[in-house]
Parts: sequence; structure tokens; C-alpha cells
Amino acid sequence: MLNIVIFGAPGSGKGTQSEKIVEKYGINHISTGDVLRGEIKAGTELGKTAQSLIDNGQLIPDDLMVSILSAKLDTFENSKGVIFDGFPRTIAQAEALKKMLNKRGEDVTVMIELDVPEEELMTRLLKRGEESGRADDNEETIRKRLVVYHEQTAPLKDWYKNDGKHCYINGSGELDRIFEDIVVAIDSKL
Ligand code: AP5
Ligand code: MG
Repeated sequence: MLNIVIFGAPGSGKGTQSEKIVEKYGINHISTGDVLRGEIKAGTELGKTAQSLIDNGQLIPDDLMVSILSAKLDTFENSKGVIFDGFPRTIAQAEALKKMLNKRGEDVTVMIELDVPEEELMTRLLKRGEESGRADDNEETIRKRLVVYHEQTAPLKDWYKNDGKHCYINGSGELDRIFEDIVVAIDSKL
């Protein structure tokens, strides 16, 4: 099975490139952000907990996030693989994911880091905020999301380097060029 972690700051293109990866490799996609936004829309208890954290640019607690992810993984049958988008976001989540996959006789195949300069992230997200109105795409919340990314999520780059899984991709520029680089990185691990 192909287990891909797509990694990067808010707005780095994880969701955009995940769609193309899903199409090419025929694997399942888990975006933890999309799962949480679905819960908010449905008005569930989980959605209520998630809403104030997301609006504040903060992370949902690890234990809650890990159980959501594990339940979602269990719904896939005869899967060729999974792309994890927006998970893991902390070292505790990375450790939990490794355990979860190891229990199934698997591991992360590759971690793809999309690197994009901070000014460009801000421009992209402000533009999306105007066009599609995602509640956390306003300047104040984007700044908080970036701080949380640097403090809690960026250390995962070294974690995955130590695990021999990290692949760096320049995430600025043409969508198709970025995707080609991702395909080379994935195929080098097959
Ligand atoms: P999540 O939904 O994962 O948001 P995020 O990480 O902030 O990232 P985005 O979805 O905003 O960006 P993206 O990297 O997917 O980029 P996209 O392709 O959309 O998480 C939201 C919140 O949920 C978190 O803040 C947290 O509260 C909570 N959460 C989620 N997972 C969690 C977890 N594991 N643990 C705890 N809490 C969790 O692209 C962005 C924009 O740029 C788009 O408009 C796109 O069209 C454009 N774009 C993409 N590529 C390019 C390009 N090459 N050139 C120009 N524009 C581009
Ligand atoms: Mg996304």
C-alpha cells in the first residue's frame, strides 16, 4: 500500500495536489480539515468543539484527532493506499500514525513537504477567503495558523528526516510542475 503524508504550511497546496495524486494513484484521501469542516456543517458535538479552535487557528487535541483518523481509516476497504492531508500536525500525531500503520503491517511510504514562502501563503489564503469564504482565511487567523505551524508542526520535518521518509518539494509556481516533482518523489519510493 501507498501511504503518503502531504505536508506543508496553511495554503501550501496540500489539498490541491492531493486531488491530482488521488487521480493518478487511485488511493483514498483523508483531509482532517475537511473532516472537521464537515462536522461543523452537520452541527455535531465534535463540530462544536472544533469550530472555536479552528476559528482561532489552534489545533484540535491530539487524542481526539487520532481517534477521528483511526475511525476514518477503518472505513476503507480494499484500499490501494491513503494520502494523509493535514495529518500529522504534531510529533504525537506522527507517532500515533506510525503505530496505527505498523499495526496493519504498513508504514508511511513518503512524506512530501511543500515549501512555499510565507508572503505567498498569505496572498493565496486571503484570495481564497475572498472567493470561497473559508472562515479561517482572514488575516488575523492566518497569522495564528502560521505561528502554530512553526511551533508545533514544522518540527515534523526533522522527525520524518530521521525516519528516512522526508522529500522536499518547491511548492511555488505552476501546479503541473509541482505535481511532476511530487510524482518523481513518490515513484522513487516505490
Ligand atoms: P486544514 O484544512 O488542514 O488547513 P491548513 O493546513 O491551514 O491548510 P489549507 O487547507 O488552508 O491549505 P492547503 O495546504 O490544503 O492548500 P490548498 O491546496 O487549499 O486545517 C484547518 C484547521 O483544522 C487547522 O487550523 C486546525 O484547527 C484543524 N486541524 C486540521 N487537521 C488537524 C490535525 N491533524 N490536528 C489538529 N487540528 C487539525 O491551497 C490554498 C490556496 O492556494 C487555494 O486557493 C489554491 O487554489 C491556491 N494554490 C494552490 N497551489 C497553488 C499554486 N501552486 N500557485 C498558486 N496558488 C495555489
Ligand atoms: Mg487543505
